[in-house]
Amino acid sequence: MKEKKIELSFISGKLTELSVQEKQLVANAKSSLTTAYAPYSGFLVGASVLLDNGEIINGSNQENVAYPSGLCAERVALFYAGARFPDVKIKTIAVSVMSKNFKVIDVISPCGACRQVMAEYEDKQEQAIKVILHSPTDQVLIANTVESLLPFMFKSPLLKQH
Ligand code: THU
Repeated sequence: MKEKKIELSFISGKLTELSVQEKQLVANAKSSLTTAYAPYSGFLVGASVLLDNGEIINGSNQENVAYPSGLCAERVALFYAGARFPDVKIKTIAVSVMSKNFKVIDVISPCGACRQVMAEYEDKQEQAIKVILHSPTDQVLIANTVESLLPFMFKSPLLKQH
């Protein structure tokens, strides 16, 4: 048996260091926090998806008293983007968070289910999706591919019928 290692690469910095277009996308994600429906967790998440055609799709987390029936902001935005523009590639997704109950001092990584959904679209479009995570203190983490956020991702080729 042999030990193997994976190298992950991401960029860590401040909001002010982003490009104008990236700052704009983060601003969209941040303003989407106002549309979050999170009466149970008090944890607000906004997600904005930039498409290849220049469209920006915004989403936010939508909770439910039957907890698992709710949906994360990333999937709300990604599924809507997929439903509205099924053939347009996704360039970037920006995610911003805020908590009513505790101080968030660093970026929050999307949950595994959201990363799996991002991975599906990255795989489908055969083009990397950039992920920008934004904290309330204006820290940012940039992953240039979803794969770097989800090593060992479950991919579809083995399941697809040709
Ligand atoms: N949440 C998101 O919207 N995105 C994530 O990646 C993690 C968690 C939401 C789900 C729930 O409404 C609240 O945050 C607390 O888990």
